[in-house]
Amino acid sequence: MTPRRHLLMIAAAVSALATSAAHADDLDPAGEWSGYDRGAADLPPMGWNSWNAFGVAIDEEKILGSADVIVSSGLAAKGYRYIDLDEGWWARRGADGRMVIRSDRFPSAIRNDGSTSFRPLTDRLHAMGLKAGIYSEIGRNSCGQLYSDDRASLPSGTVAEREVGLYGHVDQDIRLYFAEWGFDLIKVDGCGIRGLPATNPKVISGEFRAFPPIIDSDSLGRTDIPAVRALYSEVAKALEQHNPDDDFIFSICIWGSADVRSWAKNVGNTSRTSEDIFPIWSRMLFNLDSASRRALYAHPGSWNDPDMLYVGSGDFDADHLTEARTHFSMWAMLNAPLIIGYDLRHAAPELMNILGNKRIIALDQDPAGNQSVLAYDSDDAQIYVKTLAGGTKAVAILNRTSAPLEATLTSDHLKYLADSDIDLKICGPERPAVFAGSTNSRSPHARPWCSRQAASGRLRTATTFRKCQAA
Ligand code: GLA
Repeated sequence: MTPRRHLLMIAAAVSALATSAAHADDLDPAGEWSGYDRGAADLPPMGWNSWNAFGVAIDEEKILGSADVIVSSGLAAKGYRYIDLDEGWWARRGADGRMVIRSDRFPSAIRNDGSTSFRPLTDRLHAMGLKAGIYSEIGRNSCGQLYSDDRASLPSGTVAEREVGLYGHVDQDIRLYFAEWGFDLIKVDGCGIRGLPATNPKVISGEFRAFPPIIDSDSLGRTDIPAVRALYSEVAKALEQHNPDDDFIFSICIWGSADVRSWAKNVGNTSRTSEDIFPIWSRMLFNLDSASRRALYAHPGSWNDPDMLYVGSGDFDADHLTEARTHFSMWAMLNAPLIIGYDLRHAAPELMNILGNKRIIALDQDPAGNQSVLAYDSDDAQIYVKTLAGGTKAVAILNRTSAPLEATLTSDHLKYLADSDIDLKICGPERPAVFAGSTNSRSPHARPWCSRQAASGRLRTATTFRKCQAA
């Protein structure tokens, strides 16, 4: 190439640039990805929450008893650090706006001057190497106040004293909970902004003030999305201000409503994708489904939250270990927060083994933070694939039914070459298998598989089947 031709080419490139600046191409990529980078959620949070075990009937003994087991069983050392009080701790809001703790249930909260503080409880949890979480509500009144019959565990007093939610008190409450009481996590529910229209019998009876709903869980059109986002953003700002070290977790709980999927990743650290989980197999699937196609919305700093674990109860109790393993493994594939919801003081060793399974915990806590994606989907079987740090992969084959099912795993599902050997190693006593192209399993089984691909690197496989049966 002559020097002259070279010069011409450079000139042509410069002129192309100038043209594109003058007339921006509508088809140029213009999207920007941003995510919440405040708080302490590089990995999905792990811990324990009181709700699934105790509902609103919580007290200090139950909380500390569970914390003791988390430590003594070795679960804390495996990453379960947050001990979260859910609803049931509040007595009322004082005349000065300061929240008062139910000291009959939390005796360590009483101070000499008659006021209450959770500092002794959080100090104790911190001294055990744990973190402490508290519960609140974005509106004036909470889910428990709207839906629970356990009045003895709910706030009492005048209408104003029973307005225990953050509405109108964001800065005061967040300062109290984090700067003064020393909490590290807050879960903020949203019943008070969706459930108190003037027609609510509890409003008509004068028990609560009306809050014209800004969430309609059945209709985005009737939901004021910017207003909901603004309320939660105000909490995020207060959390950032009162936690200068960023050691906080903001758990948003509006159950997938208000288009929260599109904005929670910029506002909080975890966001609930569905209504509450129950200890019923079909309900676990419902919650799983609410998050399984939302991989785009999960990333380090902000995670999809299909709700807390029900390992230990109902369809996931010690008589249903296969189902319990499956529930736990699928939460790990989703990078869900691993928040235990069981009274650990009475947990059978088999349940503790599931919750403490290091391989499954490692799947959830993989530093790449890639939520699994669906590689195969049908009513009865699904295949989930999750790319781990370093490019290795995990795969879970889920049998959604109660009957044994034949599943075929192909190299296509894994996006691997069909003509290279894939070593499929089942974690546990079973013998390893090797396959190229595809492999069949007639063994609905809950034990995770670990695998290695000979040609294109390592493959780790977690296979979860609902019903356990010998092949
Ligand atoms: C809502 C939440 C639950 C729990 C209860 C407490 O239902 O989704 O996780 O916090 O409120 O009342």
